[in-house]
Amino acid sequence: MAEKILVTDALPYANGKLHIGHIAGVHLPGNIYVRYQRLKGRDVVHVSGSDDHGVAITLAAEKEGTTPKELVDRYYPVIKGALEDFGIIYDNFSQTSRPIHHETAQAYFRRLEEKGCFEVREVNQIYCPANDRFLPDRYVEGTCPHCGSDRARGDQCEACGTILDATQLIDPRSEFCNGPLEVRPVIHWYFKLARMSSRLQEWIGTKKHWKPNVRNYCQGWFNEGLSDRPISRDLNWGVALPTEEAVGKVMYVWFENTLGYVSSTREWAVDQGDPDRWKDYWLNPDCKLVNFLGKDNIVFHAILWPAMIMEHGDFVLPSEIPANEFLNIEGQKLSTSRNWAVWLDEYLADFPPDPMRYCLASISPETKDADFTWKDFQARNNNELADIFGNFVNRTLTFIKRYFDGVIPEPGTFSPEDREMLSTVSGAPTRIGECFETFQVRRAVRELIALGNHSNRYFNDQAPWNTRKTDRARCAATLHVCVQAVRVLALVMSPILPFSAERLWKMTGLEGRVDEQNWDEIDIDGSLSGRTIGKVEILFRKIEDDEIDAQIAKLGKSVARGDGKTDSGEALESAGTDNNELISFDAFRQIDLRIADVVAAEPVPGTDRLLRLQLRIGEDERQIVAGIAPKYTPEAMVGRQIVVVANLEPANIRGVESRGMLLAAADDDGAPILLGPDVRVQSGSSVN
Ligand code: MF3
Ligand code: ZN
Repeated sequence: MAEKILVTDALPYANGKLHIGHIAGVHLPGNIYVRYQRLKGRDVVHVSGSDDHGVAITLAAEKEGTTPKELVDRYYPVIKGALEDFGIIYDNFSQTSRPIHHETAQAYFRRLEEKGCFEVREVNQIYCPANDRFLPDRYVEGTCPHCGSDRARGDQCEACGTILDATQLIDPRSEFCNGPLEVRPVIHWYFKLARMSSRLQEWIGTKKHWKPNVRNYCQGWFNEGLSDRPISRDLNWGVALPTEEAVGKVMYVWFENTLGYVSSTREWAVDQGDPDRWKDYWLNPDCKLVNFLGKDNIVFHAILWPAMIMEHGDFVLPSEIPANEFLNIEGQKLSTSRNWAVWLDEYLADFPPDPMRYCLASISPETKDADFTWKDFQARNNNELADIFGNFVNRTLTFIKRYFDGVIPEPGTFSPEDREMLSTVSGAPTRIGECFETFQVRRAVRELIALGNHSNRYFNDQAPWNTRKTDRARCAATLHVCVQAVRVLALVMSPILPFSAERLWKMTGLEGRVDEQNWDEIDIDGSLSGRTIGKVEILFRKIEDDEIDAQIAKLGKSVARGDGKTDSGEALESAGTDNNELISFDAFRQIDLRIADVVAAEPVPGTDRLLRLQLRIGEDERQIVAGIAPKYTPEAMVGRQIVVVANLEPANIRGVESRGMLLAAADDDGAPILLGPDVRVQSGSSVN
């Protein structure tokens, strides 16, 4: 019986469109893997869906003046459609707001409850009487009890980095209303994660082949010690806790969304007319469960989710957790609120899906963050897709069209060079298959390029344009070998370039579809001679500079939707401003940027991060506190010219007054890089 593989792709939140960052790390590697496994003849089910719950969705809906359900139902077809247009098609793509998911998650909860996995605890939480609700930590602001910064968030103070609990904040304020807040006792269900520590650690210890990013990440958690986690929330949107004492409480989104993989598979089974079929995968210890996800999801998939599975007892544990790092764009962190993103639908309005699939596969963020740039996209499209693959295919097929009446010639006898080429071709599926099997998509691309280069070299060396006149049999053998290479190339590139591979298959006049073939039988095909090739078209068109310039110009610009709403997935971050994309020139002019001379500098006692700087800004002398100590010593600062926001309201940082803020960029590790004038200028000069 064919090996069973259950593949899941992390469920995108249903409050925004998808951008290339989503597919680079999750949906594309998942799709490539599944396409490959299907060609290998394995019994694969591939599920995903939208993640519909969580505070972010509730708040986004509130901000738009609509209901969460309306919001997620609006984004569901947008998300699903964009994925499909990229060739990312699931056996089932569900929604966690559907009844089948609620039933699945509640049944799972009940089972864990029977097994004593929960403890009900009374804790204190910030409550907003005006809105009659408890506030999630990250939406509470106040004064930090450690450093005195008055802009600490309920989960963390950014000024000093301390992890906080919202109830520790001095003078807490809600991000949503100005009313007074209270601390109230509330009960929550805690999942007893601490007791799972050693089992989890042992289990992860057996996963020696997992990527270091996942293993190291988990080790960090074990070192800190796992603690029990509250998994209930006081919200009216989510999966209700199926117990009477918990009226008005829903499950923490991360306690039910992973179960979305199960409910999506159940939904698939129902659609197949065999409602129990999901059990062949989930309740089958021999089934290989592979969870694709981004690095910010590692803790949930490698710790919380396996703990939930272990406690339940019946379900299969993940075999592989191929977690990917992030995708940056043009050297900057992707940001939906700043529109520093490439949206799938907008991309597809201008280009076909395959070049983007190929580019993202080539730079796949497998072990570190990757940087997408439009120039690199253009270069890969023009120099690799068009000049290597497209060129080889085109010269082979047009040659046959022109000089062999479009009929693939008999090879006659093979020369040693032909045999060498054929053996490279027939070894390609094994070499490239191994890359797909082990989630090394970048390496697969390199192998593909090597095959393409090898093929072009063979064509050049054999010079069929000469042998056509001097040695017709030799010419026929060459072209026959080239068609063998084209055919195998179509197959091995198909997981990454499915649309182009299918076209190439047709162009070459081959039968059936490329995705119906069997990977292990991809070899030299003895029956090609005498077949008529199809209509030859350009496989990859070149992309011009002006097309790329237009894309670059779009980055960071606002998208006018005309209805005052943003399509941003981070709509929350910008709550408070109506037009969060653009500011007026006048607004910019309100910021007084000045060149300052640093006259003295010293560390702020008790911190590793902060320096106290004495500045001269023209006639004015003042002091600021800045978090630059990780990168700059006090000595290195004295005598330097920097740029400061001179009219920022004063703040109290660690008990030290700070009047202004300096400007710095962040390097790859987030460390500050100071900005200053190119050459010395008059102290106090304004910057604009
Ligand atoms: N919605 C989450 C995110 O975008 C991912 C959830 S993955 C899940 O980060 F499957 F566990 F739901
Ligand atoms: Zn602080």
